[in-house]
Amino acid sequence: MHHFYRKNGSLFCEGVSLSALAGKYGTPLYVYSARTLREHYQRLDSALAALDPMICFAMKSNSNLSVLRTLAREGAGFDIVSGGELFRVLQAGGEAGKCVFAGVGKTDDEIACALRRGIYAFHVESYSELGQINRIALRMRKKAPVAARVNPNVDADTHRKITTGTYENKFGIPFEEVGEFYGQASRLAGIKLRGVQMHIGSQITSVRPFREAAEKMLPLALTLRARHGIEYFGMGGGLGIVYDPALESGSAAWWKRQKNPPLTPESYAAAIAPLLQPLGMRVVLEPGRFISGNAGVLLASVVNVKKTAHKNFVIVDAAMNDLIRPAFYESYHQIEPLTVKKGRIISSDVVGPICESGDTFCKARALPSLSAGDRVVFFSAGAYGFAMSSNYNSRPRAAEILVDGKKVIVARKREKLDDLIRGEK
Ligand code: LLP
Repeated sequence: MHHFYRKNGSLFCEGVSLSALAGKYGTPLYVYSARTLREHYQRLDSALAALDPMICFAMKSNSNLSVLRTLAREGAGFDIVSGGELFRVLQAGGEAGKCVFAGVGKTDDEIACALRRGIYAFHVESYSELGQINRIALRMRKKAPVAARVNPNVDADTHRKITTGTYENKFGIPFEEVGEFYGQASRLAGIKLRGVQMHIGSQITSVRPFREAAEKMLPLALTLRARHGIEYFGMGGGLGIVYDPALESGSAAWWKRQKNPPLTPESYAAAIAPLLQPLGMRVVLEPGRFISGNAGVLLASVVNVKKTAHKNFVIVDAAMNDLIRPAFYESYHQIEPLTVKKGRIISSDVVGPICESGDTFCKARALPSLSAGDRVVFFSAGAYGFAMSSNYNSRPRAAEILVDGKKVIVARKREKLDDLIRGEK
């Protein structure tokens, strides 16, 4: 579900024409829909109402201040993984008291800062980190609220680079060691046990792994609540989205290819609420992509078309430094001309100008014939798009726009050449 739609062949975001935005602000250009962000948050919040949910937006997926502010105003908390992310939350008007802090390598400075600001909980990934947090809390005469991040050893059935909940991965306390971990933690004067958490991976498109992991965790959560009075159960994030809008329509071909229909807030809630409700604990969720993914697109312009005897390369002004997902995870993004084009359909590779072959957005995709100056749109680029961008090949980073109804907010200015060398000698 999102608020990008076509009117007379032209693409709009809410009340604003994307061609007009590309013309005014140039390309490559990220455009986000505020209404989509809000509705994703609200739908998840209401579907899970029975679980007293605290939805902590995983801001690693999109950390633009305007995006964070939009969600903070809805009441969202944030899943943070660095001192930099906490800084952004506070700058955006978010509440530290609604932040959970994950990650296997929190530094002393980051822990001290989070403690000073009063975050809701640290998601602790190891015994040594527990000792580190305890030591810092004692020095600051505070009690650090913590939850163990449990590794339930459940396969999330997703890309190997974004699977996190098996013993092959660096994350979490192995399931079998968790009881002992809480026993030790309860004896530390600088630690307050607040919850228990897991996160099994990202872009999970069926409810099965969530249900399996929750079922495995339930008896453990009940024991921990009885022994240590913990107040919340963290389900992590990882809810997958639909990257191919053709699939969203649920055509016969789509149903054939899919084992499961796409996750919706309602289907997710229907799968986990009956399991978790009897716990009588607040449920903390950390969705990133589910909220921001389909709320953003990337616009680019065709620079050149290179036809060889073998290929039709459409070379655009966006590159892997702007959107690295296809290069890094072989991921699919729907690509369309910004304005509907009649004419021949050609098998095309859409590529960026960067000097490596991985800088390819798609291979042999059936696309209308495109020429220099045409504009294209990459859908579902709101999560892990700009957030993973870089200056590779000394390319200034794209501008970001937030559309809210008919209002256009320049959420981040396009970088200039001077920005490339800031701080260098
Ligand atoms: N919580 C924790 C502890 C996480 O590590 C992550 C994501 C999330 C929540 C949010 O996951 P989400 O709901 O967005 O799936 N760059 C990759 C995704 C990396 C995810 C890392 N951790 C991509 O572009 O697919």
